[in-house]
Amino acid sequence: MTAAVFRWVDPPAGPAIELLDQTRLPRAEVVVTCADVPSLIDAIARLAVRGAPLLGIAGAFGVALAAARGDDVAAAAEAISAARPTAVNLAWGAGLALDAYLRARPAGDFLAAGKRPYEAALEQARAIADADRLACRQMAGHGLALVPEGARILTHCNTGALVTAGEGTAFGLVMAAHRAGRLAMLWIDETRPLLQGARLTAYEASLAGLPHRVLADCAAASLMAAGQVDLVAVGADRIAADGSVANKIGTYSLAVLARHHRVPFLVVAPMSTVDFCTKDGRSIVIEERAPDEVTSLAGQPIAPAGSGAYNPAFDVTPPELVTAIVTERGVAHPVTPGSLRVLGADA
Ligand code: MRU
Repeated sequence: MTAAVFRWVDPPAGPAIELLDQTRLPRAEVVVTCADVPSLIDAIARLAVRGAPLLGIAGAFGVALAAARGDDVAAAAEAISAARPTAVNLAWGAGLALDAYLRARPAGDFLAAGKRPYEAALEQARAIADADRLACRQMAGHGLALVPEGARILTHCNTGALVTAGEGTAFGLVMAAHRAGRLAMLWIDETRPLLQGARLTAYEASLAGLPHRVLADCAAASLMAAGQVDLVAVGADRIAADGSVANKIGTYSLAVLARHHRVPFLVVAPMSTVDFCTKDGRSIVIEERAPDEVTSLAGQPIAPAGSGAYNPAFDVTPPELVTAIVTERGVAHPVTPGSLRVLGADA
């Protein structure tokens, strides 16, 4: 990867956000410039920029961009937060940057120091990115203890450097296992309908030189039945207070399969993805996406014209199917409201 995944730029024409368009990977590295909030929202909605931790970073920088442009910053934060409803990090990051901006606006330290209020939002956005980079290292450190020698790890969707400020959540753990000499194979679910596994995780695995193979999502059952999977490791878009995990559609099926085949099922996610305000899995709003993501492939129709589709972007895995949740603050195991609350205390 030669281009930066996500960065703030400040040319004479005014600040903007540059991002690597993930819809074009792995075939082309195309950088998109978002000079205003509507173009950032468009990039978020069409998954040019995606994945929970990066959405948190994007949300915060988006608010800084609105502030720098002199837009209505509260309205911008609300619009950004609504662009994708399931990934809690998006609204979380936008909200933190908005708070920083509002605190700086009246006449606080920032004005005294000769800075403009948008810089407070920008500093907050940079702090979120820095904290995420550190969290990735810490999650990998905590999770490594759960990875056996010669591990064959199955993952779903994409959780690496394309969606975090570091090496990733579940993929960061895979990288740590590889460096420790413990990774025998990374099995990558293709992740229908938008193929984040085949297009993005396999791309990251190739760049990192990991032993890996891509499989159709529906092949996971026979792979586990053949005894070829030692561990499942996935990320999360929102974890409710009871430990229910919303993640890419297909995650729940994997968890059911893992339980049947007695394979440990790990969720690796930063505490910013744990939403103590959402009490349980039923309360998580699931994003429903356009039918043509299912009825077409690479722009070509694969179903008869007029066929409808069921296209939830995420599903919810109940806590009893999750062996452990690995965060930067430690590991919740077993996954209960209590074990999560202990990790969240004084956060
Ligand atoms: O719809 P996407 O591609 O944004 O979904 C992303 C996922 O489901 C990831 O698994 C999740 O955000 C964890 S990213 C570290």
